[in-house]
This record gives sequence, C-alpha cells and structure tokens, in this order.
Amino acid sequence: MSGPAPKPGILDIPFYAPGKSAAAGVADVSKLSANENALGCSPLAKQAYIEAADALSLYPDMNASAMRAAVADAYALDPGRLIFGAGSDEIFTLACQTFLSSGDNAVQPAFGFAAWAIAVQAAGGVMKNAPERNYHVDVDALLAAVDDKTRIVFVANPANPTGSEIPYTDIERLHAALRDDILLVIDGAYSEFAGGDDYRKEFDLACSAPNVLVTKTFSKIFGLAALRIGWGYGAADVINAMERVRPPFNTTRAGQAAAIAALKDRAFILRSIDYVRTARADLAAFLKTFGLKTIPSAANFVTALFDPAAPLTASEAEAMLSRRGVLVRLLKNYGIPEGLRITVGAPADLERFCAVFAEIMGDHRARR
Ligand SMILES: Cc1ncc(COP(=O)(O)O)c(C=O)c1O
Repeated sequence: MSGPAPKPGILDIPFYAPGKSAAAGVADVSKLSANENALGCSPLAKQAYIEAADALSLYPDMNASAMRAAVADAYALDPGRLIFGAGSDEIFTLACQTFLSSGDNAVQPAFGFAAWAIAVQAAGGVMKNAPERNYHVDVDALLAAVDDKTRIVFVANPANPTGSEIPYTDIERLHAALRDDILLVIDGAYSEFAGGDDYRKEFDLACSAPNVLVTKTFSKIFGLAALRIGWGYGAADVINAMERVRPPFNTTRAGQAAAIAALKDRAFILRSIDYVRTARADLAAFLKTFGLKTIPSAANFVTALFDPAAPLTASEAEAMLSRRGVLVRLLKNYGIPEGLRITVGAPADLERFCAVFAEIMGDHRARR
C-alpha cells in the first residue's frame, strides 16, 4: 500500500529549523536563538489578550476590521490595501500561492530568510539564490538572477540572518530594474530596530508601484510572536488577488485584540528600540574583544563570524554554549557555517551569554 502521493516537489522541501529552545539536562536556558523581544510585550497587549478569553466560543472578525483600522492609522496607510496573516510567514505563503505557478521561480539573496523558500517550493516554484557581497544584498546579483520565469523577488530590510541593511537607493534601483509583472516583496520584520526612516519610503513605494508588497509582523518589535499576527501592504490588485487565497479566519480574536493594544503602547515600542540599539552595540563590542568579526546589524541580533581556520569553530562554540544552557543560532543551514547569530535578549540572558562565552574562550586559549 503506497498511500496518497504528495505533489511533485513537496518532499524536496526541507523542514524549517527553528532556533533551539531547550538543551538536554539544563532546566533553565537563556534563549538567544529566535530574535524574540528582549522586553517581552506591552502590558496593554497582555491585558487585551486576557480579556479576549471571554469570547473564546466566537469566531474572529474575518476581515480584522478593528486591527486593520488600527494598523492603517498607526502607519498612515490605506486600510483597503492591507492583508493580515498568521505571522508574516503566512503572507509569504499567500503571495506565492497567488503569483507563482509550477515552473516559475523566485529570486532571493543567498542568505534569505528560510520561510520564503518553503513558501515558494510549496507553490510549485523554484527559489534562485543570488550571491551576496560580504553578507550584504547585492542588487546587481539579484537582477542577474532574474529571468523570464521569475515572478517574485524577496528581500528583507534589515535581513535575517545577517542583520545587514539595504540602503533605500538600492531598493529603488532594484525595483526600477524589475519588470512590472514581478512582485517585489520587502520583508520589514526588523525595520524598527534599524534606526532610520527608510521603511517609510518602502511603504511609499508600495503605495505608488503596482508590484511591491511590504510585509510586517507583530512578532518582533511588539513582542507578540506567540500570537502569530503579520501583515502585508501592497497595490490594491495585489491584495485583492491574495485575499481570495487567504483562509477566512486566519488571525485569531485574541491576536487581533492584543495587536490593537500593542500599537497604542508607544512607550513600550520606544523602550524596545532604545534597549536593542544600546545592547546590540555592547554585544558587538564584547565579541570583538575576542577577535571576532561581526556583521554590522540593524536588527535585534548580532551575527558573529568565526575564522573557519581558527581552533574554535562556530559549530563548536554553539555546542559548548548550548551545553551550558545558552542557546544561540548556528547559521550552517543558512550557508554561513562560520556564523553564530545571537539575539539581543534580556539583560540577564546577555550577561549569562557573556560570562559563559568568556569562559569558553578562556578555556580554549588555555588549552592551546
Ligand atoms: C526576516 C524575517 N521575516 C519574517 C519573520 C517571521 O515573522 P512572523 O513571526 O511574523 O511569521 C522572521 C522571523 O524570524 C524573520 O526573521
């Protein structure tokens, strides 16, 4: 008996590998592996979530009307051109389901976010990787990878797992060189941590262009990763098509309520941004004291680069940290075996990371 056969290509899709959340034999871990918010979430959002428990028997508003109005107001956007998903992950899936047919391809920078390729392959497409330059997006390489079967180009600004930023002039140049029938997805999951206001310009581009989709999430700056709320903003025709594919009740009532409350807590947002910018610089400076290079980060993590020829590799460091309950992300499956990505976590977790890391590096030097 052979059972139902998955569609061609489905079994070639690699499983998504999440950041580690447990270490064998260690009860109390410091999780610096999934770029979650170091400060948790707004107390207003938590309260709204708790209050939503009174209506668990009711379906959510399938159009997310109140959340739509709140997001449109907070970001000065047209509410009719927003689409919501179970995390921005679902927005990528919807874009691929809507615009990719079997045999089409999408293009991403070589170190693109892993969920994009899953969405592409699940829709029957092929993901093409364009080389990066020194861990930064290379617009010319992306354009060189585009061919007549390309339907989507993905970039993240700032990028995960490198943390590097794409200057808006590069986004503009990329967009200007793409055919109008290619959707440019600009994933802004970490944009608040970057500092500038380029993300505003990306929204402006999505307002005027027929083929730009900017995606955002409540998982990072708002600290609501558990509730899975993400959204996209694009041309009316793009959103209209994607809405036909969206499962009707894909964002929960509690998630919508918490997201609306989170948008109102400006103080929490500013605290999160301030904390990340300061602690990110401190973390990079700490890593440099051990002779490690770091990729300049505009996100809520720092990626350290180990010299592959050095006695301690990134993979060994990750394993040693993990055995001591400090969980960071080895970037081997992203094609960066020399990279360790460390979330700018809560102060106590970062202190623990620094203490354990210093111990590991000290031990290692002593043994040489
Ligand atoms: C670049 C990037 N985009 C999107 C996401 C996914 O966000 P969400 O939780 O909204 O699905 C992540 C999560 O780590 C990410 O790193």
